[in-house]
Amino acid sequence: MSDRRTQKLIKAATDARKNAHAPFSKFLVGAALETEDGRIITGCNCESASYGLTICAERVAVFKAHSEGIRSAKRVAVVADTAEPTPPCGACRQWLWEFCGDAEVILANLDGEKGRYRLKDLLPLAFDARLLGVTD
Ligand code: THU
Repeated sequence: MSDRRTQKLIKAATDARKNAHAPFSKFLVGAALETEDGRIITGCNCESASYGLTICAERVAVFKAHSEGIRSAKRVAVVADTAEPTPPCGACRQWLWEFCGDAEVILANLDGEKGRYRLKDLLPLAFDARLLGVTD
């Protein structure tokens, strides 16, 4: 059973999932980032008829956060309607790593929380700004 803050984060992702634009896959995904000061930024997957232009829910949330001047988060919840929890794809792991660092990743389905992971375990040996000599 999740604590209240986690339930709130999962609910935000679940609600965002309802806005998914997924006419091709019909696979609806919601994501919610939680900042250090408790703000929540959500995202849903947005599909294109040119399939490769599709953007996952996690990256939409990161882009929304950037556009609102938010530069980091400490946790992210991902919700899909799958018995096995749906983990972020490789591209999203990279974006999340650059945005959140070693955030907690909470995976849930419509019944609630199904697992918790650290991003460093989902993306070991990550490439990031450190290797470019960029520190901020
Ligand atoms: N998708 C996400 O939004 N997040 C994930 O973690 C996995 C996949 C989306 C992309 C596409 O719209 C659909 O799910 C099927 O791949």
